[in-house]
Amino acid sequence: MKILAFESSCDETAVAVVEDGRKILSDAIASQADLHALYGGVVPEIASRKHIEAIAALTDQALKEAGVEKKDIDAVAATYAPGLIGAVLVGLNFAKSAAYALNVPLIPVHHIRGHIAANYLAFPELEPPFLALCMSGGNTLIVDVRDYTDFALLGATRDDAAGECFDKAARVLGLPYPGGAAMDKLAHESEGGVYELPRAKIDGCPLDMSFSGLKTAVVNLAHNAEQTGKQLDRAALARDFTQAVVDELVPRAMLAMQQSGRKVLVAAGGVAANSFIRAELEKECRKHGYRLYMPPLKLCGDNGAMIGAQGYYEYLAGARADWALNAYATRDIDDPIV
Ligand code: KG4
Repeated sequence: MKILAFESSCDETAVAVVEDGRKILSDAIASQADLHALYGGVVPEIASRKHIEAIAALTDQALKEAGVEKKDIDAVAATYAPGLIGAVLVGLNFAKSAAYALNVPLIPVHHIRGHIAANYLAFPELEPPFLALCMSGGNTLIVDVRDYTDFALLGATRDDAAGECFDKAARVLGLPYPGGAAMDKLAHESEGGVYELPRAKIDGCPLDMSFSGLKTAVVNLAHNAEQTGKQLDRAALARDFTQAVVDELVPRAMLAMQQSGRKVLVAAGGVAANSFIRAELEKECRKHGYRLYMPPLKLCGDNGAMIGAQGYYEYLAGARADWALNAYATRDIDDPIV
C-alpha cells in the first residue's frame, strides 16, 4: 500500500511516499530554518506562507523521486496535530484536496506518533509494545506504546520542550537557530563542570519534567556576564547545559522502563539527534539490559516519511477523516485520533 504523506507542523514542509508503513520510496523536505534564523526562532505567519509556496512543487518532487504516478497512491496521510496551527492547516488542507482529487482515504496522523514511527522505517524488526522517549522542539514526553495506535502517556514536560530549551540556550550563546546541533558541537569542546545548573523535580510525578528553570538559568548567566563584562566559557556552558538536559531525560526514561516492565526503549524527535543523549541512553540501556532503538539522524527531525509510516498503522486500525477534519495546535498522544 502506497501512502502519500504530508508534514507541515513547524518550519519544515515535507512530503513523502511510503510503502506498507516501512519502506521509504521518497522523502522530500523543504526546510525554512535559514529564513527563521534571521529572527532567532520560528515566526508562525512566515512558516505558514512558506508552506503554501513549497507544498505543490514538493509533492511533484516526492512522486517523481518515488517513481510513482498519482494513480498509484492508495491513501493520503497528514499531520493534523499538534503544531503551529496555521502551518498544520496548510499541509492538512493540501492533503485533503489531494485525497479528494485522487479519490483515496484521508488518514489523520498525530505528529508525535509520527516521530515514534520514524523508527519503524529504520528497524524492520521493531514492533510494539515498547516505551518511547520523545524529545522534539515542541514536545517532550515518555509514552507507553502498547500497540501501533494504542498509547499511554506516562510523563511529560510541564512547560518548555527539551528542543525549545536547546534553541533558547543556543541563542544566548550566540549560536544560530535552530541551535540544538550547534550546541551539541560546541559542548564537545569542553569537559564542563564549570556552571551549576538546576535539575527539576515535580512532587509526586517523578516522570514529569520541567525545562523552564534550566532555560532561565542559562539566560541569566549570559545576561549577568554581559552586564558585568565577565567572559563566559561558552563551550563549558554548552556542556553543562547539555548534561542538565541529559539528567532530566535519561534517568526518567530508565525509571519509566523499570516501573512499566518494558524491555525495549525507543528514542524519537529532533533532540534524539543529540550525541550526549544518545551516548547516555546507550550506556544506561546496556547497563540495565534494555534493547534501545534510536532513529538515524536524518529521521530524527521532522519529515514526511514518519507520517507515512504511522499513517499506515492508523489506516489498518480504521482511522479515516472526512473533509471536515480540523487541525489542532495541541492534542495529547493518547487522545482519540480525530
Ligand atoms: O522534531 P523536530 O524536528 O521538530 C519538532 O517536531 O518540534 O525537533 C527540532 C528540535 C530543535 O529544537 C533542534 O534544535 C533540536 O530538535 N535538535 C537538537 C539536535 N538536533 C536538532 N537538539 C540537541 N542536539 C542536537 N544534535
